[in-house]
Amino acid sequence: MHRTFKKLHLVHFSPGGSTERVVKAIASGIGSLPVENHDLLPSANRKAKHVFGPDDLVVFGSMTAQKLFTLSDEIFACLEGHDTPFIGAIAYGNGFYGIALNELLRRAEGSGFKVAALGAFIARHSIDPDAGLGRPDASDLAAMKDFGRRAFEKISAGDLALHTLPKTNWSYCEGPNKIIAHREAHPEEPYILPPEYKEKAFTDACINCGNCVRHCPTDAIDLAAKTFDLEKCIGCWGCIVRCPRKAIRSTSKAMADVTAAFADAYKRRLEPETFF
Ligand SMILES: Cc1cc2nc3c(=O)[nH]c(=O)nc-3n(C[C@H](O)[C@H](O)[C@H](O)COP(=O)(O)O)c2cc1C
Repeated sequence: MHRTFKKLHLVHFSPGGSTERVVKAIASGIGSLPVENHDLLPSANRKAKHVFGPDDLVVFGSMTAQKLFTLSDEIFACLEGHDTPFIGAIAYGNGFYGIALNELLRRAEGSGFKVAALGAFIARHSIDPDAGLGRPDASDLAAMKDFGRRAFEKISAGDLALHTLPKTNWSYCEGPNKIIAHREAHPEEPYILPPEYKEKAFTDACINCGNCVRHCPTDAIDLAAKTFDLEKCIGCWGCIVRCPRKAIRSTSKAMADVTAAFADAYKRRLEPETFF
């Protein structure tokens, strides 16, 4: 059965912008359909319901941080598919994507989507600028486009099933450790970054442009007072990455220690992985 589609929906949660780039590169491999953009970064856009029918096609992308931080419930609660074909992607910083693809599959199917293809793609690591440096590069962008093309062909031919289950990826690890064993056993638990990993401060270079506020998914920044509400903040690094003056700095020793510990492991080149 050949299927045709009314609209291509680009749905993304992309604090630093690289995931949105991945979604758009995937879409470049898909034929010419009218496109609608759904930016789930602003909290207001997650309060509205985004409803999709069987004649719609969704390309979804999220950054990975093991899971989608604490927001995965909210993100998938605002998406309602009706047997809608779904192409899912995660962007990660050349470290590991853990259970992110399995989570994406579980959540998307729970929200009424038919997951036909999944991919994990490498982008620059928002925290460690040396990890994933220069990614996505030309070869990554070609892989994303090819992924979109193959997924679209498969779905157009009426095949909405995922025949290969996604892997988990803990590639930086020498072997299983306690945290990972726990995460694998309890995918339903929210992953909460403790406040000491999210400490940050404005520097004098701030020009009050408000770009940080516009890219904060949880409205955690008081620009006038130059403060961050670390209970609201999910630690996505959007404010730091998007600041045109680099006027927001992480002051977290805990995060600096983790980043330093994995720095060498993050330097080897990983390649995109796709599942159909
Ligand atoms: C708190 C936090 C945790 C992250 N954890 C991982 C990780 O476990 N593995 C990895 O490879 N990248 C990790 N990343 C990097 C992001 O997944 C990567 O930079 C992604 O491309 C960011 O997408 P964005 O630009 O759309 O925000 C993490 C980033 C942040 C801010």
